[in-house]
Amino acid sequence: MEKNVGSLRMSIGEEETEIAGWPPARGTVAVSRDEPQVGTLFATRYEIQSVIGKGGMGTVYKAHDRELDEPVAIKTLRHQAVRSDSFKQEIRLARRITHANVLRTHDLGKWNGLKFLSMEFVEGRTLEQVLESEGILPTSVALRIAKQICAGLAAAHAVGVIHGDIKPQNILIEPAGGLKIMDFGNAHLTDDRGLTLKGGVTGTLGYMSPEQARGLRLDFRSDIYSTGIVLYEIFTGSLPFDGDTPLAVVWKHVNDAPPLPRSKNPRIDAKVAAIITKCIEKDADARFQSVGELDEALAQVKVEVEDRCARARRSRKVLQYINSDESPLSLLNLFCRSAFAGKDPESSSVGCASQ
Ligand SMILES: Nc1ncnc2c1ncn2[C@@H]1O[C@H](COP(=O)(O)OP(=O)(O)OP(=O)(O)O)[C@@H](O)[C@H]1O
Ligand SMILES: [Mg+2]
Repeated sequence: MEKNVGSLRMSIGEEETEIAGWPPARGTVAVSRDEPQVGTLFATRYEIQSVIGKGGMGTVYKAHDRELDEPVAIKTLRHQAVRSDSFKQEIRLARRITHANVLRTHDLGKWNGLKFLSMEFVEGRTLEQVLESEGILPTSVALRIAKQICAGLAAAHAVGVIHGDIKPQNILIEPAGGLKIMDFGNAHLTDDRGLTLKGGVTGTLGYMSPEQARGLRLDFRSDIYSTGIVLYEIFTGSLPFDGDTPLAVVWKHVNDAPPLPRSKNPRIDAKVAAIITKCIEKDADARFQSVGELDEALAQVKVEVEDRCARARRSRKVLQYINSDESPLSLLNLFCRSAFAGKDPESSSVGCASQ
């Protein structure tokens, strides 16, 4: 990584670079001094194709990496967002995590004074976008999402990395349902004693653990709290704490009991509600003590929910047959039509995904 950064630095100051073959229409491509421009070559290897989004740190672009010959995402980092060596250390840690549910960070680079991250590009929508367009998700879908968050976090925790900013905006859902956790930008290495965030409070207010809000030493259980808030949002459609000012939200995370999930959505499975409540206990000792433990609890519920959904589907098929004109059971048919009027078994089984 250092070698790359060095060679990029040597190129600073070049105004124009001859680039063969891309974009096809032009012979000469301007090398930007500031933000990457769509349709130009950035940092001698990234063909910038489009702007994907903007976040707190900078802008994210889709690009084609000529060296890797694959699509990548380039995230520019505002100067004040990059706190010297500690940030590099965080990136080094993030690169240690190799897991299907963790978005791969390639490198930290610098071009014309602009720091940037190159990452695996993932086609898909953030969980935030999914929740905005779909609202409350069926239990079986939500549990699949939760399981993948747990798997990604377990891989990070196994190599000593705390995410520190779990929120729907940092979770990408691929069209086939795969999930990637991204932005291990707030991740730090833990030692035996846990970890203290340096330089004040980081993370995003709505999902921040009480200990994080208070600037205390963090351990993996802080990620479990934030995951619990994400689950709360997935299953109820809203966050447990809001307020007119950032301080009001932080205050509530530290001091207020969250409204019970079932007070917001009575259709939530009771066991799921209990799991969410346990994740967001103020006292880290009262939460699940590892994502493995949380995953196990979710897996048990998943089996029960799948079983309930399968039974509901079977009863529905039987009802459909009995109600259909093909049914030879004409008398029974008549009886069933009146006995089961308005009682669709699927509608009474909470949150089965449609097949
Ligand atoms: N590697 C990637 N592949 C595909 N899309 C990405 C990738 N990284 C980021 N994005 C998209 O870019 C958007 C902006 O990401 P970014 O992380 O900068 O902002 P954010 O998560 O909303 O805020 P924050 O700065 O707090 O992380 C994301 O919402 C996502 O849609
Ligand atoms: Mg982000």
